[in-house]
Amino acid sequence: MGKLKPSCSTALLLFSVLLFCFPSSQAQQEYLNNAQLNCDGTNGSSTLGYSCNGQRNSCSTFLTFRSQTSYQSPVQIGQLLNVNASNVSTINGVADGSQVPVSNLVFVPSACSCSGKYYQHNASYTLKSTDTYFIVANNTYQGLSTCQALIAQNPYNSRNLPVGEKVVVPLRCACPTANQTASGFKFLLAYLVATGDDVDAIAQRFNTDSQSILDANDLSSSSVIYPFTTLLVPLKTEPTKEGLVNPPPPPSPPPPTSPGATSDKGSSNKKWIGIGIGIGVGVLAICGVLVWFLCWRRRRERQPIPQGPKIAGSPSDALVSSEIRSVIGSLTLYKFQELERATGSFGEDHRIKGSVYRAVINGDNAAVKRLKGDVSNEIDILKHVNHSNVVRLSGFCLHGGNTYLVYEFAERGSLSDWLHRKRDWSVSSHLGWRQRVQIAHDVADGLNYLHNYTSPPYVHKNLKSSSILLDREFRAKLSNFGLARPVEDSGGPLLTRHVVGTQGYLAPEYLEHGLITPKIDVFAFGVVMLELLSGKEATFAKEGDEKKEVLLWSLIGEVLSGEDVRSKLRSFVDPYLQNDYPFDLAFAVAELAMRCVTCDPASRPSMTEVFLSLAAVYNSTLDWDPSDFTTNSGSIVNG
Ligand SMILES: *[C@@H]1O[C@H](CO)[C@@H](O)[C@H](O)[C@H]1NC(C)=O
Ligand SMILES: *[C@@H]1O[C@H](CO)[C@@H](O)[C@H](O)[C@H]1NC(C)=O
Ligand SMILES: *[C@@H]1O[C@H](CO)[C@@H](O)[C@H](O)[C@H]1NC(C)=O
Ligand SMILES: *[C@@H]1O[C@H](CO)[C@@H](O)[C@H](O)[C@H]1NC(C)=O
Ligand SMILES: *[C@@H]1O[C@H](CO)[C@@H](O)[C@H](O)[C@H]1NC(C)=O
Ligand SMILES: *[C@@H]1O[C@H](CO)[C@@H](O)[C@H](O)[C@H]1NC(C)=O
Repeated sequence: MGKLKPSCSTALLLFSVLLFCFPSSQAQQEYLNNAQLNCDGTNGSSTLGYSCNGQRNSCSTFLTFRSQTSYQSPVQIGQLLNVNASNVSTINGVADGSQVPVSNLVFVPSACSCSGKYYQHNASYTLKSTDTYFIVANNTYQGLSTCQALIAQNPYNSRNLPVGEKVVVPLRCACPTANQTASGFKFLLAYLVATGDDVDAIAQRFNTDSQSILDANDLSSSSVIYPFTTLLVPLKTEPTKEGLVNPPPPPSPPPPTSPGATSDKGSSNKKWIGIGIGIGVGVLAICGVLVWFLCWRRRRERQPIPQGPKIAGSPSDALVSSEIRSVIGSLTLYKFQELERATGSFGEDHRIKGSVYRAVINGDNAAVKRLKGDVSNEIDILKHVNHSNVVRLSGFCLHGGNTYLVYEFAERGSLSDWLHRKRDWSVSSHLGWRQRVQIAHDVADGLNYLHNYTSPPYVHKNLKSSSILLDREFRAKLSNFGLARPVEDSGGPLLTRHVVGTQGYLAPEYLEHGLITPKIDVFAFGVVMLELLSGKEATFAKEGDEKKEVLLWSLIGEVLSGEDVRSKLRSFVDPYLQNDYPFDLAFAVAELAMRCVTCDPASRPSMTEVFLSLAAVYNSTLDWDPSDFTTNSGSIVNG
């Protein structure tokens, strides 16, 4: 990468961003990006509905639905989705009362209209005793609606849904924009993404081109799509029965690569799919490769520049050497002088801790970490990762045998600082219950993403409260990826003789046998939850016997068993919470943590399960403490 002239890279980055990074036909509708899992109102995505940006206020459209046990015939589906059953039966070629085999796709012709800000088709649903808004949106309506849209349009508190009452279910639909109409598109079909789908296959299924789908949903060719979300498919004619059948499976994807290997998402034409939480390489990664590519081309001979982000997978892609590829990715290459300037020449006043410095780059805060030796592992992982709960690596610099990594800045420092700092702080500078639950939820989200939705998946291997960073809003970000390694999906479990990590967080099977699986992160996360609950460190000196070390995780079994669990748990909980916490939820977290730190890895829950449990605890916590952080005086702080 030393070969890349900064001036060239800067100019071309700008150029390529302007030219290629925005869909040519202008953003149409925002894709949900897995935000449908989020029931509390975070802004910034299309969870509430597709905006009314079309040429017309109402139109006819096609929803999709997958036949499921209670909703299998056109009549049943028609009732559920509030559409004319004979229209459903005609287009799908089945009689009104006859059943479609479970999980087959069904087209649902429906009307779509703008109600204020969002396009929607209203259905009505009678609540059952097991329902929550999330279950209605995700399980019953399969993602045609979202929890947030239901909350926004119904009067009932999400914790107290009245059984037997009706709720309005706004189904997601949209009408073509002027540009889409100009391109000949007449309908936007709301396709329900299923596990294993990718944009190419969906395009093939509906006999259309991938680019128009990407444009319609404001996606890039490397974006990840998620099951139980809607993807708009622009169609020039009504969908035909061929679209009901899954297209033949695409050729098998290339084998997962090790972090140092050259072939990565950028070099594969396959658009990959998240099965749940996760986001693929960002648009910038592609631009990064493009920048290099453009420079490379320029150096060789003046040839026409490639057209748009479709560069990935083009034959010339093979020419991108591993050295260059591993260096550019989505990252900025900084000059050492720039970093010196940004950190006051790495002065003491800029030092955060150890070899980490605060920097100001283009007016934004950043953290610069100086590392010796080979740091390609961390760079390789982080440049592929794009998740709000994983610290973002924005660039790096090589100088004098050191590598300087430039990260987003976590204004509140590490979780361990907050939990274990000298206890001379005032009570008001301690984390409140809601913040603790949110942090646990965030970390679980990040780990679940690493375990399941990156390619290849990773084990973090060094999770501890000091590798969890907090931003200004106390949102948690995983950092410290130096020890992370891919989860091998073939060739059996990974074993190592070289056990590294931090005392107090190491799972027994790793310590004893060097066995590396995602379950060692689950174990360490259990310890972090116990720290959040108790305020104690992962290891601490035994009272009365300073030489003896107590492992925090070894205590919880005793707390939750035998007599008088309630009072034992109350005294386990961090005194700084001052009894200002919902006991039942604390109990739920303690039990979950206990399951995470069981010695037998097979008995530990998966990170997905942990994440879902914490999502429930988090939602209940919001009901317990609905206040805004800024008015939550008990726990808000000035760093
Ligand atoms: C339509 O697309 C063209 C480019 O294809 C763009 O310049 C224009 O702004 C778009 N207009 C609207 C209304 O979307
Ligand atoms: C929501 O908006 C607030 C400010 O209005 C912003 O700080 C926050 O980052 C936004 N959240 C999301 C998820 O976009
Ligand atoms: C459903 O549509 C058919 C025409 O396709 C029409 O004959 C019928 O009356 C409609 N049913 C209702 C309940 O609107
Ligand atoms: C059903 O189809 C008929 C004609 O095909 C149309 O007039 C009617 O509006 C459709 N009903 C619905 C609910 O889409
Ligand atoms: C959404 O619903 C599907 C289908 O019932 C279910 O398999 C899936 O687990 C649900 N997602 C979540 C996050 O609960
Ligand atoms: C759908 O329901 C919303 C309320 O949730 C209402 O404002 C809107 O007018 C309804 N739309 C139609 C077409 O009935």
